Amino acid sequence: MLKLVLLLGVVAGCWAQEPKPCESPKQWEGVRLKRFENRDVFERARYTYDAVNTRIRETELIEAGTEKTLYDVWHFYKEMKTYRLNTQTKTCNVSTPGHPFFEIGAPTGSKLMFESEIGAAQIPDEHLTIQNWYIKFSNGAEYDVTVSSPDCIPVGAYYRNGNLTEVERFFDIHPGIKNATAAFTLPPECTGL
Ligand SMILES: *[C@@H]1O[C@H](CO)[C@@H](O)[C@H](O)[C@H]1NC(C)=O
Ligand SMILES: *[C@@H]1O[C@H](CO)[C@@H](O)[C@H](O)[C@H]1NC(C)=O
Ligand SMILES: *[C@@H]1O[C@H](CO)[C@@H](O)[C@H](O)[C@H]1NC(C)=O
Repeated sequence: MLKLVLLLGVVAGCWAQEPKPCESPKQWEGVRLKRFENRDVFERARYTYDAVNTRIRETELIEAGTEKTLYDVWHFYKEMKTYRLNTQTKTCNVSTPGHPFFEIGAPTGSKLMFESEIGAAQIPDEHLTIQNWYIKFSNGAEYDVTVSSPDCIPVGAYYRNGNLTEVERFFDIHPGIKNATAAFTLPPECTGL
């Protein structure tokens, strides 16, 4: 009995030491690079992320330097709808998002895999402390995310579910959304679909 109590104490002690996921900003604007593995697709998009209302706007930028937009995409996860506007042909399609909404950051229940420095660890202002968190969602999808420490700003992520694999990098993140109305109002081509 004493052994069991001691063992339980040790187990509880280990659990208590398990680091809790840090909290990433719930709303931000930035740039996202996305690559689909097994598919020859590479996207660079201006990104507006709103975890409070589970919606994301992606303005895909092509032709680096000229910043021409080809697709403008809205994901509304409450309705599970993705609107995709081809800005050149002015045609808009509606479809189902490729996966359910999850927060970009370390989700509740994720496990700290490691903490490390990227850049030159010994040179001040030339490195960044990052944490790598991992979770397997109940639907079987795996999510592996790198965030800065201590501010918990997303740096990169890897998502895999069945044959869908996405590799993402995030840049120039500014917490907050400047104008949510402008970011999330659908253009006339997409309304009523
Ligand atoms: C919308 O769907 C049609 C038919 O599947 C396709 O030809 C077209 O390229 C799509 N448009 C956009 C903007 O994705
Ligand atoms: C991926 O899996 C889905 C569902 O199992 C299937 O419909 C789709 O064709 C697959 N795609 C590829 C590229 O294998
Ligand atoms: C936000 O965007 C909307 C739609 O583009 C515009 O009407 C409104 O004036 C903007 N608000 C601010 C505070 O800039």
